[in-house]
Amino acid sequence: MSALEQAGLRLLHRFDPETAHGLALRALQLGLSPTTGTVTSTRLRTSLAGLTLANPVGLAAGFDKNATALRPLSRAGFGFIEVGAATPRPQRGNPKPRLFRLSEDRAVINRFGFNNDGMTTIASRLKDRPRDAIIGLNLGANKDSDNRAGDFATVLATCAPHLDFATVNVSSPNTEKLRDLQGKAALSALLSGVMDTNKSLERPIPIFLKIAPDLSETEITDIAEVALTCGIDGLIATNTTTQNRDGLLSVHAQEKGGLSGAPLFETSTRVLAQLYRATQGKLPIIGVGGIASAKDAYAKIKAGASAIQLYSALTYRGLGLVPEIATGLDALLKRDGYANVAEAVGSGH
Ligand code: FNR
Repeated sequence: MSALEQAGLRLLHRFDPETAHGLALRALQLGLSPTTGTVTSTRLRTSLAGLTLANPVGLAAGFDKNATALRPLSRAGFGFIEVGAATPRPQRGNPKPRLFRLSEDRAVINRFGFNNDGMTTIASRLKDRPRDAIIGLNLGANKDSDNRAGDFATVLATCAPHLDFATVNVSSPNTEKLRDLQGKAALSALLSGVMDTNKSLERPIPIFLKIAPDLSETEITDIAEVALTCGIDGLIATNTTTQNRDGLLSVHAQEKGGLSGAPLFETSTRVLAQLYRATQGKLPIIGVGGIASAKDAYAKIKAGASAIQLYSALTYRGLGLVPEIATGLDALLKRDGYANVAEAVGSGH
């Protein structure tokens, strides 16, 4: 991390986390954050559900919920970017405070509850997106919707013309009963609706499903079966956890919401590995949860991830971490004699 970035982060951490995040986005929009440009090599370049990525390091959903910093983020070194979650109608989300920094634990707890500007505004921003980046949207459902499953298809139909991929997010813990949609019958019905909508588009796009880390092995096997039969293009493992608070040091450890960052690494990697086994490597998986170094990213790839995403570590290390992870991953692949990312996927099994 550069001295400038370090000073910027120290300053941001004097504000409450939600204000700090708003300021960080503002700084990005004003061109005040590091913009590395594309980080790539023959080892890092990879294919994900038909998308060509310059490198496998992606931005996880929730950082740029409203797609307001697409251009600067496209120059920060990521191989792909996921924005959102977007819901059909704009939504305020839960009352503040709803974002907590657990600095001693290198973690974050959030209970935002899909606060966003709504699909129409977000689609109008996506329309002006940079064309030289891979950009996807996290699809969400309105809290008060009487057809939550239908919401995912509605957002997809509105925003897809401006997207490279979309993610069905039934794994946020902050919208009551949303995670119930991960059950076999509900998930199957929801995904077939989304896939039908996708097929009817002028240009169908890859559809991913993002799952929670708080699942039993049987539930993971069920999800794998549904994923394989309904024709989705990939999986994202995982969202934040509502469990797993043991051993945390921060005063905010017991706040309600989803925990992310370092304490999530082990659980999310275990779920990723189980999912890779359950799908027999037939579907690409994006590994996310607690990645803060090239070594962490490499561990996810060896556990079965074809690409990775991160968010919480950026809070502590800034965007300079992105090229650091990509170049570090390149060195680790080289060290172990892999010609490219794809060769290393699942090698830990
Ligand atoms: C998230 N995450 C998230 N995920 C999602 O699918 N839709 C969303 O809208 C959000 N929003 C969100 C907000 C905040 C403040 C955080 C910290 C996280 C989850 C995120 O994409 C990722 O899955 C987890 O945070 C785990 O990765 P990290 O943060 O440990 O790298």
